[in-house]
Parts: sequence; C-alpha cells; structure tokens
Amino acid sequence: MEAMKTEIVVVGGGPGGYAAAFYAADLGKKVVLVERDARLGGVCLNRGCIPSKALLSATHQITAARASAQRGITFAPPEIDLAKLRAWKDAMLARLAGGVSQLAKMRGVTVVHGGARFENSTTLTVTAEAGAPQVQFDKCIIATGSKAALPKIFDIGDDRVMTSRGALEVPDIPQNLLLIGGGAIGMELGTVYAALGSKVTVAEALDTILAGADADLVRPVTAYARKAFKEIRLKAKVAKLSAGAEGIRVEMEFNGQTLAEVYDRVLVAVGRVPNTDGLGLENTKVARNERGFIVANETLQTGDANIYAIGDVVGGAMLAHKASREAHIAVEAITGLPGGKTRFVVPVVVYTDPEVAWCGLTEAEARAGNIPVAIAKFPWGASGRAMTFDRTDGLTKLVVDPKTEKILGVGIVGAGAGELIAEGVLAVETGFTAKDLTHCVHPHPTLSETLMEGAEAFYGQATHTLSKKVAAG
Ligand code: NAI
Repeated sequence: MEAMKTEIVVVGGGPGGYAAAFYAADLGKKVVLVERDARLGGVCLNRGCIPSKALLSATHQITAARASAQRGITFAPPEIDLAKLRAWKDAMLARLAGGVSQLAKMRGVTVVHGGARFENSTTLTVTAEAGAPQVQFDKCIIATGSKAALPKIFDIGDDRVMTSRGALEVPDIPQNLLLIGGGAIGMELGTVYAALGSKVTVAEALDTILAGADADLVRPVTAYARKAFKEIRLKAKVAKLSAGAEGIRVEMEFNGQTLAEVYDRVLVAVGRVPNTDGLGLENTKVARNERGFIVANETLQTGDANIYAIGDVVGGAMLAHKASREAHIAVEAITGLPGGKTRFVVPVVVYTDPEVAWCGLTEAEARAGNIPVAIAKFPWGASGRAMTFDRTDGLTKLVVDPKTEKILGVGIVGAGAGELIAEGVLAVETGFTAKDLTHCVHPHPTLSETLMEGAEAFYGQATHTLSKKVAAG
C-alpha cells in the first residue's frame, strides 16, 4: 500500500486531537487524523465528561424532586428504566460523535481508524483492519490521552470491579457500591449511583475528598455526600479485592482496624495514566518522564523536533479544555502563526452536588508557596437567588493580590458553580482587579452577583454581607 503523505498527522481524536486537526485544516494544512476507536470524540465524549454529565443531569431530577418536598411539592418515588436511560445517553453520544466526524469531513480532514505506531520521526504505520497504511508526515501531534489506572491489587479480572468506563454503562443499580478514590471521578459517579438508589461507600486514602480544591470549597460537598452516600471514609486504604459468589470481598484498613466487607460492585477511581503503549516512541526522540507522561516544552514540542504532544498524555490538568487549548498552541507553533500566550488559566469543575469549580491560584497553593494574598468570600446564605432554589450551601471566594488588587484566583462551590467559573477565568486571565469587578453590573437576582459581591467583600463593602478580608500566606 502506498504511503499517505501529509503536512500534519494528529494521533488521537479526542477534544485535544480533533481540535488540533480542525484548527490546522482551517489554516489550510493537509491533515490526517488517526483514531483507533470507531468513533471520534475520545474518552471525553464517548466515556468520560459527556456521558457522566448526562447521567448526573438525569439523576439530579431524582434528588431535586425529593428535595422539593420541604417546599410543599411532593412527587411519587421515581421508576427507573435503566435500559431507556442508557439508550437516551448512547443516542446522544452517537449524535455528538457523528457531528465531530461530519465536521472533520467538511474540513477535508482525512480520518484513518486504527492504532498509530511510529517507525521513525517522519513516518507512522496505522494498524487498521484494512491493511496497514503508512503515513509520512512533516509534523505530528500526539493526543492519545489517558486511561483509568487499575493497580494490580484491584485488577482481579471480574467485571464487578469497574473503572469509570464500566460504571458509565450503568450495567445495573448495585445495592452496595464501594468507590476506591474520592477524586473527581469517584465523587461524580458516586453522586449518580447514590441518586439511583445505591448505598455508596467512599474509601479515600487521603484526609479529604477532592484533594486539589481548597478545604472550604470541599466542605459543602463532603456535608452533602455524608447525607446522600452511606459513608465517606477518609484515610482508608483498600488492601485487597477478591471475587466471591455473593459479591466482591474487600479488605480495608480504616480507623486502625482491618475491615472485611462484601460489595455488589466496586469502582476504582484512583487516577489516570497516559496512553503511550504501542506508539513506538522508542523509534523517535520523544522522551517520557518517570511517570510515563510525554515531556514537551511550552509550545508542546517534544524532544523530537517534528513531534508535538498535547492533552492528558503530557500530564498536568487532565481536562478536555486544557487539551483543546494546547491543541491551538501546538498548531500555532507548527504553522508559524504569531504565538498566542502559552501560559493560560485552566478552570477545574467537579460536578458533584453541589458543584465545585476553581481557576488560577488557590488559597492552599498561596499558603504552600508563601504567596501573600487576601481572601474575600461571599457566602451564598446571603444570596437571594440561592435562597429561591433552596441551595444556600455555596461559597464564592476570590484570591486577591493585596498590593495590586488583581484577582489571582477564584473558587466557587454551589449549584451551577461550573457555569459561574467562566467569569473567574475571564477575570484572572485578563488581570482584572477586584475594583474592576465591583464596577461590572451583574444581573439581579442571579448567582453571578456572588462574584461581584465577593469583590466588594475584598473592600469590606459587600452590600448583602458584613465581611472582612482575610490575609493568607
Ligand atoms: P484523582 O487523582 O482526581 O483522585 C484519585 C483519588 O484516589 C485521590 O484522592 C487518591 O488519594 C485516591 N487514592 C489513590 N489510591 C487509593 C487507594 N488505594 N485507596 C483509596 N484511595 C486512593 O483521580 P480520578 O478521580 O480517577 O480522576 C482522574 C483524572 O480525571 C483527574 O486528573 C481529573 O482531573 C480528571 N477528571 C476530571 C473531572 C472533572 O474535572 N469534572 C471529572 C473526571 C475526571
């Protein structure tokens, strides 16, 4: 088979890879996109962000209906048709993935399905069902993403021990579900299963869930989950799993004791590892770090001048939007476009109940780095809008440079925090001061006012709360 020649080949069709391929094609480049799955969209679209948010929004109806009883509106207990829920989710995913394929086609991006393996710094082979075409390229962007880590002690070859991939299929509603790991994936999927009716136990090795977020932002999530879940066990270490007829047998160190328990299903959510197996990186000059992530410079160029790498496979925040931004930086470097900024603010959103979102500098990072900051907070108990939907368990906080008054970071916990954080990104990315934010009129009554009043609180003048700024660091 004759080799395909292209200016740019992108390996991996997730939100990093397809963003890179599309941008390069929009800039007039000849682009080949290699994806080993039958569908484009990667983990995010097919078995990550999108299906988890679909399940979260579907099951949120259950908790919202239950909560409305205290406002005088009572619903009958829900009847859950899992097959229909799955079919709805899967149809939506198919539609989205189809849309991405269509966009590739309309841009003239050649999509090849199969696994890519580098022969050298300008050639890769695609192991596809229809032969093994070679692609000769000027430049390559690796965007192969990551997969759930499954440490050996948890890999017992029983499908009742799931990673996020299996859990998102919602094979059934287990009576008892153990989550190993209280990070974003564990807590989001725990929220789904708890709403569906499972008794959810979390075993988290650290002394907090959602370890990257500031403690005051995590507190309302822990409080909610302690009610919605069966139990949250901190400093709990799962030592052994084994398959039994009655369920998965679990040995766990907790509170100075070794517990022996049985769960119907176990979800392992203990982090993610980069996808580099079988890529043939040894045939290139691409280097990896001690944790297996590809090493890339600030324009995402690897040790091999022809090869760039973006997204989860280079580590850092393993988030779709970070990958998409890196895609643009890499394409601009490759095409010689006057570079935009290579440093950027990455918002994090965890879709628990309530949601947690933050961007820029966190209070904990400021303390750890001895960076002097002032913290201004606006509790949602003082928000009229939060009261109207009975969720005053939120908090908006600003991390401010006390000298320049620039907003260095924003953290929000509360219903819809994920939508609100975009304003925080704008503020931090553009070097907004707290004063600038106080001058922006925010619509009333909305939760967005908590950002403006948070900025007012920095000056001790928030209309709806008496607040003093707190120095940290
Ligand atoms: P994670 O790294 O966020 O959390 C894993 C947790 O498991 C940690 O708190 C760790 O202490 C704990 N852990 C590790 N080994 C353990 C053990 N043996 N026993 C008990 N606990 C143990 O990993 P997670 O949740 O799997 O997410 C992976 C990545 O996916 C993250 O980097 C995250 O950025 C990304 N992600 C982000 C989402 C979001 O922002 N909404 C949603 C889903 C994933």
